[in-house]
Amino acid sequence: MKQETIQSPRGVPDILPDQQKYWRFIRDIVEKKCQSFGFKKIDLPFFEDQRLFARGIGNSTDIVEKEMFELKKTSEEEEAQYVLRPEATASVVRAYIQHGMRSWPQPVKMYYWGPMFRRERPQKGRFRQFYQFGFEVLGNIDPHLDANVILLAWQILEAIGISKDLVTEINSVGCSQCRPEIRKKILEFYSQYQDLICPDCQRRYLINPLRLLDCKDKKCLPVIASAPQIIDNLCRECKNHFTVVLETLDELEIPYDLNPRLIRGLDYYTKTAFEFRELKDKDRQSSLGGGGRYDDLIELFGGKKTPAIGLAMGIERIIEKIKEKKIRIPELIGPKVFVVQLGEDAKKCCLKIVSQLDREGIGAACNLSQNSLREQLGLANKAKSPFALILGQREIYDKTVILRDMKNGVQDTIDQKEIVEKIKEQIGTIKKKK
Ligand code: HAM
Repeated sequence: MKQETIQSPRGVPDILPDQQKYWRFIRDIVEKKCQSFGFKKIDLPFFEDQRLFARGIGNSTDIVEKEMFELKKTSEEEEAQYVLRPEATASVVRAYIQHGMRSWPQPVKMYYWGPMFRRERPQKGRFRQFYQFGFEVLGNIDPHLDANVILLAWQILEAIGISKDLVTEINSVGCSQCRPEIRKKILEFYSQYQDLICPDCQRRYLINPLRLLDCKDKKCLPVIASAPQIIDNLCRECKNHFTVVLETLDELEIPYDLNPRLIRGLDYYTKTAFEFRELKDKDRQSSLGGGGRYDDLIELFGGKKTPAIGLAMGIERIIEKIKEKKIRIPELIGPKVFVVQLGEDAKKCCLKIVSQLDREGIGAACNLSQNSLREQLGLANKAKSPFALILGQREIYDKTVILRDMKNGVQDTIDQKEIVEKIKEQIGTIKKKK
């Protein structure tokens, strides 16, 4: 009986070998930029206590209400319900408190990279397992830091080569001082329009009125257009903070659009909130990344009140843009030496030479499944190796090897004992010529 073939879960893609170059390219840029901006790497668990996200992201958000993957409980784990992490900010805050990072020099600047899990309806650019890189700065309220974090992301997008048609949408969502008044005004305004808004917004009206302003349903857009704006109702501190953020972005020449309707789908934001998206994405369907301040989150998790800001970028969406814009990905530097083997005895000797060169720090490769000289030299060319070593029956017998310069085809027979010395000599000559 033919067995049914098992597929990966819906919205959970494999990352195949030919795609790895994109991931490596982005990762190299992220690591370099994060280090030069003074961020240290943190790796966080893939699953955490469900309460972390319920408390942090907010019980009434889509992520917590509908999108978390719960792990099955075992009998010893009666107490905790674990979930696959839908994001990493709550985990960073947990780690900050758990490891007493408040006693470290402030602010603590950390970055992360890894998979996140959300049970969303899979579609273009929206997956159930997707990767983010993100950075968080904990322990400082300075508004210049908000611009600094945006600058880091912008420099990464520039280095990748996709910043040209992007824009930073930005807003201030207020703080615990001004929010109650803003909420009141929004509730008052919406009380007249209950019948005109979508069912989701009717629910939001009762549990999370601020998010009424961020609805993307066409039915709600005319109501939103005349709704009170947060930005007109900010307290003095939030207003001043936001002014400095915008002035600094101007100074840094980072393009931004002030979007007074931007709220974002996570409840922990205070003051600055922003998203990166394509200029042509007018319906705001797919952001490449986003973030903001979360000055109350550490206190909410039982720590001392500590201001913080961060953002996360969606890696699959960045890769989509790289492909769309046909950005050239730099090739990996191939092995310096390709060892060609002709015959059974040569295979053994070839492996020995590859490992010997490798130990000397000279990148070497071979291919044992191809047998012809032509095919193997073809592979050496494809790998852009400057040298090939050719081992046939005769060379095995004489304990020699043919050293071939792949650029001009010049060949020389050398003693096997001299391989490392001769290759180093040749590499030195190339470097001098350069
Ligand atoms: P977020 O807006 O939920 O923010 O996610 C950030 C980015 O992750 C999005 O802009 C998008 O590029 C990508 N993303 C989200 N969901 C999916 C999905 N289902 N499929 C593919 N990509 C997706 C956060 O996660 C916050 N933790 C950001 C933050 C850090 N705020 C402060 N610090």
